[in-house]
Amino acid sequence: MLRRLHAEQPDSFAFTPANQAWAEAQITKYPEGRQASAIIPLLWRAQEQEGWLTRPAIEAVCTMLDMAFIRGLEVASFYFMFQLQPVGSVAHIQVCGTTSCMICGAEDLVAVCKEKIAKKPHQLSADGKFSWEEVECLGSCTNAPMAQIGKDYYEDLTAARMGELIDALAAGDVPTPGPQNGRYAAEPLGGLTTLKDFDSGHTKYNASVQLATDIGDTVKRIDGTEVPLIAPWQGKAANASAKPKASAKNKKPVNKTPPTDAVSAAKPDTPVVADGPGTKPETLDAARGGKADDLKMIKGVGPKMENLLHELGFFHFDQVAAWTADEVAWVDQNLKGFKGRVSRDNWVTQAKALATGAETEFSKRAKKDGMYDE
Ligand code: FES
Repeated sequence: MLRRLHAEQPDSFAFTPANQAWAEAQITKYPEGRQASAIIPLLWRAQEQEGWLTRPAIEAVCTMLDMAFIRGLEVASFYFMFQLQPVGSVAHIQVCGTTSCMICGAEDLVAVCKEKIAKKPHQLSADGKFSWEEVECLGSCTNAPMAQIGKDYYEDLTAARMGELIDALAAGDVPTPGPQNGRYAAEPLGGLTTLKDFDSGHTKYNASVQLATDIGDTVKRIDGTEVPLIAPWQGKAANASAKPKASAKNKKPVNKTPPTDAVSAAKPDTPVVADGPGTKPETLDAARGGKADDLKMIKGVGPKMENLLHELGFFHFDQVAAWTADEVAWVDQNLKGFKGRVSRDNWVTQAKALATGAETEFSKRAKKDGMYDE
């Protein structure tokens, strides 16, 4: 598979304060002059925060490590663990398609993903909640077929169980990872045949699943506040200074709770995410007269972005043209995955021209080239 950066990228990336402190602490693990060795943990943290690895995130990490951008891009595009395109807002499902899993029904699991999520791997589901891909052996062959969902393994799957898992996740639940057929771990399905007196010390679940349920971050985005020890090798004092000022307790949740007025103007599960800087502009429930302007004539707005704008309640050039600087700040903040796009491409100026019926350089080109023709 060709691994390349996604065509649509957000304008910027910043670690949350807690993740920034965590990343800075990771760099101290390495001797002077070898800070670049922290590239993988830092890229991984950026992905854990955003769900996928954006170009601004790769560049921000390279800047932190004093590396040429191309070296960070090489790492990110080499390892399949890095997702270079947006993933489902709830979960990205990685179905193992290697020998054991293939023999035991991986193709059926893929068929469920195709039916319930999207026809092709790495495509978002219609509601944006899920994406999927087939991956090579994940090392859980005795529990085939299996899939990694978020950070944990779901094993001994059937097509029916896979469907149930997706439905449960869509409903906001996180099913218990591990064997899905009643096995504790990888013992024979009919029960132990040897070592029958062995006492595992019995936690409710096997060690991996117990840890997964204890940590509880299977499909959670990581903002850093959940990490109790930032750099244990630095000792308590250093950790105290490295920790972000906002504690998990008093820190405002990031991107969790949509403002109530945003909810009313948007469909459920819309990517509308946060309050934040700026003021929310006036929105519409639907396009006036049932016909929206072609917002894709604004440079920086593609089909996905246009859908997002509709979900936010923006359908017409004159709405965009009327945004004040404060309102631009709000929209910029709430374009999840595309933050900062409004300012970067100066939408307001473009929309002012388009609202009067004039053309911009971009709209002329888009029409001439049939850029968005069906
Ligand atoms: S073959 Fe699927 S986990 Fe190894």
